[in-house]
Amino acid sequence: MSLKSIQKEREYTKFVVDERLCYYESSKNKSEKTFVEELSLSLNQKHKSIDPKFFYDKKGSKLFEDICKLPEYYLTRTEISILTQLQDKLPTYMNEEFRLVELGSGSSYKTRILISILENMHKQIEYFPIDISKILKESAVTLLDNYENLRMTGIIDTYESGLDFVKNYDNKKNLIVFLGSSFGNFDYKPGLRFLDKINSSMKDDDLFLIGLDLVKDKDVLEYAYNDSHGITAQFNLNVLSRINSELDSNFNVDKFAHHAVYNEAENRVEIYLRSLENQTVNITKAGIALKIKQNELIHTENSYKYTIPKIKEMFSSTGFRIRDMWFDEKHYFCLILLSKNS
Ligand code: AVJ
Repeated sequence: MSLKSIQKEREYTKFVVDERLCYYESSKNKSEKTFVEELSLSLNQKHKSIDPKFFYDKKGSKLFEDICKLPEYYLTRTEISILTQLQDKLPTYMNEEFRLVELGSGSSYKTRILISILENMHKQIEYFPIDISKILKESAVTLLDNYENLRMTGIIDTYESGLDFVKNYDNKKNLIVFLGSSFGNFDYKPGLRFLDKINSSMKDDDLFLIGLDLVKDKDVLEYAYNDSHGITAQFNLNVLSRINSELDSNFNVDKFAHHAVYNEAENRVEIYLRSLENQTVNITKAGIALKIKQNELIHTENSYKYTIPKIKEMFSSTGFRIRDMWFDEKHYFCLILLSKNS
């Protein structure tokens, strides 16, 4: 191990659960803003907003899993259908041993498909999920129970720092995966910056597999974000309940409505909370009394949809080479396999 990587490792605390499961937790709390700092800023703007990363508390994560099972929400099942067809396609790009590195610990179902593919190729499989939230211990245990030859190393950190950690970890090749069109939350420029970052933390022989949702009929898109059971509405409104419990505020969720529209000019679904009346909300821990007008919108999420030319442009401008692209029959969703263009 190089000196650099030893120093790098010192910023992490290693927790060994057993010989097949360990965690590295970043001890340096980086220069990240806190929940209250970020919200005080974003809610005090002319156009109020709440970052979508705040959706995922315990309740929000559960609601998102429910969304993934909705008939209207084609993304998850479509991506799974493409993944299951990679059984003999992905291995042609991996003649040596690869470790699976996942950004976000994700739904373990998709991870399972990838583990099964690797299982056919290698005796031992290494899985490194990178996530800021503590990786669910229970799901790790079931995964390890199901796959005898699997070893898991969780990295509790931001994607960017986690990737640097993996790069310096050893010389093994990495298959980095970023599924579910999670990338779609990035606006264009921050998205390019993120791809740049991924590219620079990849070794020459590493591979990157990303799942992206594609531009399609407006009705299909709006239906996916306005489901008939109102689960997406609950998911959206839950962020207010989270703020209430964590920042001592008094948002009345009954005074807000879920609002999701497809912006065709920008190729994105925009999600908002619309205030049903003029109201004032006190956010005690932020020390603010927030005035909200009737019909005023609080922006909570952008979910970008991509065209093939846009995909090609994004990846070529960030130093990637597209190795392959896979689609479902309807061309609703796309999996792209990339390597460094070096
Ligand atoms: C997790 C960002 C991919 O944009 O489709 C689902 C989140 N929001 N329904 C998406 C989401 C409302 C989802 N991503």
